[in-house]
Amino acid sequence: MGATDTRNIVITGAAAGIGRAVAERFVQAGWFVGAYDVDEAGLQSFSQQWGQQRCRTGRLDVTDQQDWAQQLADFVQAAGGHLDVLVNNAGVSATDHFEKIPLARHHRLIDINLKGVVNGCHMALPYLTRTPGARVINLCSASALYGQPMLSTYSATKAAVRSFTEALDIEWQRHGIRVVDVLPLFVNTAMVANDVSKMKTVQTLGVRLTPADIAESIWRLANRAASRLPVHTPVGLQTKLFYLLCKLSPDAVNRFVTARMAGH
Ligand SMILES: NC(=O)c1ccc[n+]([C@@H]2O[C@H](COP(=O)([O-])OP(=O)(O)OC[C@H]3O[C@@H](n4cnc5c(N)ncnc54)[C@H](O)[C@@H]3O)[C@@H](O)[C@H]2O)c1
Repeated sequence: MGATDTRNIVITGAAAGIGRAVAERFVQAGWFVGAYDVDEAGLQSFSQQWGQQRCRTGRLDVTDQQDWAQQLADFVQAAGGHLDVLVNNAGVSATDHFEKIPLARHHRLIDINLKGVVNGCHMALPYLTRTPGARVINLCSASALYGQPMLSTYSATKAAVRSFTEALDIEWQRHGIRVVDVLPLFVNTAMVANDVSKMKTVQTLGVRLTPADIAESIWRLANRAASRLPVHTPVGLQTKLFYLLCKLSPDAVNRFVTARMAGH
């Protein structure tokens, strides 16, 4: 397959969970996919399944500017010089009372979840600007709507990604690039199974989304006309209701509901 005429997408955190589902959704549809992660073993099964003609994989730590520079240059060269979509998906969580989480872990969360997105946008801009209809899709979270207890720094990073997305989408109008995000509630991935499920809110609301649900939303955002893209896409009915509630209710109500769901 000639990658030059094929639409292409770069996805971070693509070895597992949502990122992996997004990579599979696009490669199955014939896109040329760049799947990057720090989990190289996880990426290997993806590249073995799809082969070098349909994808590139490699180590890319989103906190590392050099990794971004090398992998983007390599991908764009293989893809024929353009970059249609960047999905900033890599993310980590730390679920516990704020003071029980070591400060270094809080900092790492900010480095990956926020600075990783800033790095990606900064480093990909030269490639996105030369691609008509290019877009960036950031993984935000319903925790950006109202800060979640036990997930304070994680929520803060996602609220920051939300604001960053809004601002950059306006700024990059002059480059012809859209910047949007998806906001899911809990998704059935290792992040929730191994960590976030410690929150009482997970029991209260359940885990109703699959990685494939998020991949489908991202698929639609990648394919719809740029002028028709919403800046924020809450995924699934439950998240849409939560999104609406947070928008319409005064902060006192949002605080009350959030605290009750978390068992406070
Ligand atoms: N699972 C959920 O409930 C949920 C809900 C809303 C938003 N999100 C967001 O979706 C994204 C994906 O989450 P997931 O649930 O699939 O998590 P996951 O833990 O299943 O997968 C995350 C992937 O990111 C990779 N990663 C971690 N640090 C990295 C780094 N520095 N550089 C590159 N890759 C790195 C991991 O190796 C892993 O493959 C995250 O940004 C997360 O915050 C998840």
